Amino acid sequence: MPLMTLRDVLEPAVPQRYAVGSFNVTNHDFVEGVLAAAEETGTPVILSVAEVHFRYLDLGRFVPYLKQRIAQSPVPVVLHLDHGTKKETLVKAIHWGFSSVMFDGSTLEWDDNIAQTRELADLAHMAGVSIEAELGHVAGGEGDFEGGSEVDTGRYTDPEQAAEFVHLTGVDALAVAVGTVHGPYRQTPELDLPRLAAIRQNTTVPLVLHGGSGLTEADFQAAIARGINKVNFYTENALLAVEAVKEALAAGRPMTYPDLTAVGRGAITANTKRQIAVFGTQPM
Ligand code: 13P
Repeated sequence: MPLMTLRDVLEPAVPQRYAVGSFNVTNHDFVEGVLAAAEETGTPVILSVAEVHFRYLDLGRFVPYLKQRIAQSPVPVVLHLDHGTKKETLVKAIHWGFSSVMFDGSTLEWDDNIAQTRELADLAHMAGVSIEAELGHVAGGEGDFEGGSEVDTGRYTDPEQAAEFVHLTGVDALAVAVGTVHGPYRQTPELDLPRLAAIRQNTTVPLVLHGGSGLTEADFQAAIARGINKVNFYTENALLAVEAVKEALAAGRPMTYPDLTAVGRGAITANTKRQIAVFGTQPM
């Protein structure tokens, strides 16, 4: 199928109250593992490449493979830049052919976040690319596996500001801070559901929940019922693949390197399929 934008895949999710998974990919096995899950379930999927993961990748080679592989897929796929913090990264991603970008100005002051997001939203839209931005701040980093992160309760998204932010910037999706962190949690997560419901009441754009790993099925269902339409998910897939590889090695069967990568990939597919079911993602 041709590449889809974030707008394309999230538009039906808002009235139908489901979410589409945005799964971070950091190598070919991750891509094939996630795409197999989407293809086996016949549902749309967002393949996310995060700026912090560029260190794992030679993007000049990886992106052409992604585009070719997505074109061969029978399901709708979005190629999304996750947490771009610099204008340069977003311009590069648009140039490479990403269909969606995220600008993360969540550590900036209000006026700066508005001004930079607005400029990048105009740029993305001129290129036919969707854009997500973040208001409030979700702590932790993708791949920060040491000790886990604490929720930054002082930087939750303000529901009144959310409406103004969307209006002033023209973004296609809004990432909100309502009790999640990226990577492992230091404490059991507790979502601020009334806040999320208030944000939903004030805005019509699809809402995005970052830091999906570590939430329960009930957390996801409650968040989706209150307006989450995109869930970002990475850490659990990355760790489960390692667990599966360790188990396979411990079983003592003779294995080659491709056998091991297939085990890791299989674990990613199985967990991604579970998440797709929990998110209630519908075929398009
Ligand atoms: P997790 O790694 O905690 O699932 O978060 C992923 C994410 O939010 C990517 O933006």
